[in-house]
Amino acid sequence: MMDWTDKHCRYLHRLLSGEALLYTEMVTAPALVRGGALHLLEFSPEEFPVALQLGGSNPVELAAAARLGQAAGYDEINLNCGCPSDRVQSGTFGAVLMKDPGRVAACVAEMRAAVDVDVTVKCRIGVDDQDPEEVLPEFLARIVAAGCERVTIHARKAWLQGLSPKENRDIPPLDYDLVHRMKGLFPNLHISINGGVTSLEQARTHLEGGLDGVMIGRAAYHQPADILSTADRDIFGRDHVSDPVDVVHAMLPYIEAHLSAGGRLHQISRHMLGLFAGRPGARAWRRHLSEGAARKQAGPELVEAALALVAMQPEARAG
Ligand SMILES: Cc1cc2nc3c(=O)[nH]c(=O)nc-3n(C[C@H](O)[C@H](O)[C@H](O)COP(=O)(O)O)c2cc1C
Repeated sequence: MMDWTDKHCRYLHRLLSGEALLYTEMVTAPALVRGGALHLLEFSPEEFPVALQLGGSNPVELAAAARLGQAAGYDEINLNCGCPSDRVQSGTFGAVLMKDPGRVAACVAEMRAAVDVDVTVKCRIGVDDQDPEEVLPEFLARIVAAGCERVTIHARKAWLQGLSPKENRDIPPLDYDLVHRMKGLFPNLHISINGGVTSLEQARTHLEGGLDGVMIGRAAYHQPADILSTADRDIFGRDHVSDPVDVVHAMLPYIEAHLSAGGRLHQISRHMLGLFAGRPGARAWRRHLSEGAARKQAGPELVEAALALVAMQPEARAG
């Protein structure tokens, strides 16, 4: 998620769950290939498994970007066909590509030929006045034929005119049923559902209903411990549950290294604000961190002080 799931956020989320697949923010192929912005590919090896999401619509450029992503070590290259923002539309990336499945197929085929890692697509169920019942199966058939290994479907349309990107994540109604029916039509395609999932319980319901994966966006960002700390056990069947207090301790050396390299605390701590959401001490933690972290000299001691406020709450480690 742009401006959210940067490498610091992903490092935090990986400490919470060893198994969940993490995605980068969308990186545009032109920025990598023409702009040489290779710093956009930086990540820590601790983040594995991690997928690079690309934006673009030029098959040759996307293939070159995919090669750069594979060389950097990413486990998967994902093509964004779901983002409705104006800036993205002007470059013919994102959700507008739902109108041009032939082009998406050409992009996937070229990327598939360029790399060995999985090539995947994230899409909507349709855009504007398209009929999702008609266009989604056709879109999926085209990308599968082109070599797409897995797809994540955001279960709502995007309206390319008239709605802001934020409204496009809330207003068009969710159609989970349609996504589930796609599994019947494409039994061999690995299909993940996305959109409006706010708990692991809901995620399990989708999995039990036959889907292969669930992508959780905003809830995982705002309440990372709720979504991720029991995911390894409850979704992946592993004997592991993380504790947000331990995770804060594990972040301290990472924070120190970032500050030593000239970084600022808030670049990391902004992703940690929701760590105790819904738990005792959540408000004190959030306030202390958000107020103090912008100060130039703020360091790990601020995080420890915020944690001490959480620890003062009697049931802080319960949940
Ligand atoms: C701030 C923000 C940035 C986003 N950036 C991206 C992005 O770069 N690529 C993408 O595929 N989706 C992006 N999304 C959409 C989410 O991945 C997801 O599809 C959407 O929020 C619906 O899922 P959710 O209800 O679980 O959040 C973004 C969402 C938000 C809130």
